[in-house]
Amino acid sequence: MSEEIIIFDTTLRDGEQSPGASMNTAEKMRLAGQMEKLGVDVLEAGFPAASEGDFEAVSEIAGKLKKIQVAALCRTNKNDIDLAWNAVKHSANNRIHIFLATSELHMAEKLKMTREQVLTAAVESVKYAKTLTANVEFSAEDGSRSDRDFLCRVFEATIAAGANTINLPDTVGYSIPFEFAELVKYVMKHTPNMNKAILSVHCHNDLGLATANTLAAIEAGARQAEVTINGIGERAGNTSMEEVVMAIHTRPNYFPYSTHIVTEQLYPTSRLVSTTTGIMVQPNKAIVGANAFAHEAGIHQHGVLVNPMTYEIMKPETVGLNANKLVLGKHSGRHALHDHLKEMGYDLSPGELNNVFKKFKDLADKKKHVMDEDLEALVQEGILRTTDVFKLEYLHVSSGTTVMPMASVVLAINERPVKGAGYGNGPIDAAYNAIADLTGTDSELLRFTVSALTGGTDAQGEVTVRLRENGITALGRGTDADIITASAKAYINGLNRLEYLKQHPPSIAS
Ligand code: KIV
Ligand code: ZN
Repeated sequence: MSEEIIIFDTTLRDGEQSPGASMNTAEKMRLAGQMEKLGVDVLEAGFPAASEGDFEAVSEIAGKLKKIQVAALCRTNKNDIDLAWNAVKHSANNRIHIFLATSELHMAEKLKMTREQVLTAAVESVKYAKTLTANVEFSAEDGSRSDRDFLCRVFEATIAAGANTINLPDTVGYSIPFEFAELVKYVMKHTPNMNKAILSVHCHNDLGLATANTLAAIEAGARQAEVTINGIGERAGNTSMEEVVMAIHTRPNYFPYSTHIVTEQLYPTSRLVSTTTGIMVQPNKAIVGANAFAHEAGIHQHGVLVNPMTYEIMKPETVGLNANKLVLGKHSGRHALHDHLKEMGYDLSPGELNNVFKKFKDLADKKKHVMDEDLEALVQEGILRTTDVFKLEYLHVSSGTTVMPMASVVLAINERPVKGAGYGNGPIDAAYNAIADLTGTDSELLRFTVSALTGGTDAQGEVTVRLRENGITALGRGTDADIITASAKAYINGLNRLEYLKQHPPSIAS
């Protein structure tokens, strides 16, 4: 009999703490719906005290999701706990997740609290949260660098106060797998009432060891893994869900565990997260990277043709990678589009479908084969960005060897059309100058990358930009068959995200 590992997804909370990854409520709702389809057990929807936007997103998600547990993060103070509760109470299956640091460094330098004060705050906050919900998790922030015996005291006291889950985070990604497993065993042995709670782990990837540490902890006795899709998160990120789940799934003889994750939904979820946040997945990323199932060397290609098991330890279909990605063409109808989008994880309303169908027909006129990546881009641009302040209405550029590059642009700013023009070193520079002028932005362009969305000379161009204004960073993404239009769309998307972030400053938890 395999033991169940609880998958606690924190893409919407810790994942959103990746620089520039902020999502608006509509984007979070869509991702939350996909998480339900993916089969996560607990979804940490946000940190309601961090901003009104976080509160609103957590409340809406809690009200909508029916199958999975929705958690909200908070510090130990009453106001934070009340906000977390008021946001998650809309879910019948809710969890309040309280965190407080327990390492000497954090207690002395950051919290300016003594051990006894930390212990009291932890216990009191759990007791209070327990008056609101039956389901409370306590996390000892920087747990892996805390004094072991103090950690066990805090765990014992918070379990006695009613915590159902005790989380041991490697907040700064400092642990080494063997050492982390030893710590888990130590905690299990020296926390007398540990059998009354689930032990969870939450690892960061600063040394590239988050997945290894999480798996080592599971082997040592942890039964909840806190993870994110694509491993996104603060600094070098969090433990990647797809890696942990597929390690367990692929090595059943080694790992006698199971999860509720529908592995076929891993790749679609990964795509949804990367297109929503603008954070690209590195091509060689395990499980979901573009090259994860690509065989380059002739010997490998031959082997795979003879028998895929020679070089593939997992089937691409198992993670939801559709080997036959060719999808629709200009003769495809609304039903085919609807069905295919549904398979990809987008369940659109009739109005949304109309909107995407129109864009699909326009694209199919320019491009013979419309692929999954193209459809994702259409949905992202057509549906998920409906609250944008700035919209591109018109773009004309002239450039060449004998003319000074020039761009004329019409934008809708809060639905009001404005037009302008700009010169530059090249057509993209000219378009960016015109857009900057019209929007009045002070942002700095930190990064500009361009790639092809699919293969073929008719592929759509995909542009990502990173912008910074007053210390706030935002990513922008744009796709179009025309690379200059894609660049303008990416810039405008980045500016919209900056606007959103100004209204909804990023979360403040680690
Ligand atoms: O990394 C961390 O310690 C956290 C806690 C809030 C669980 O994210
Ligand atoms: Zn974290």
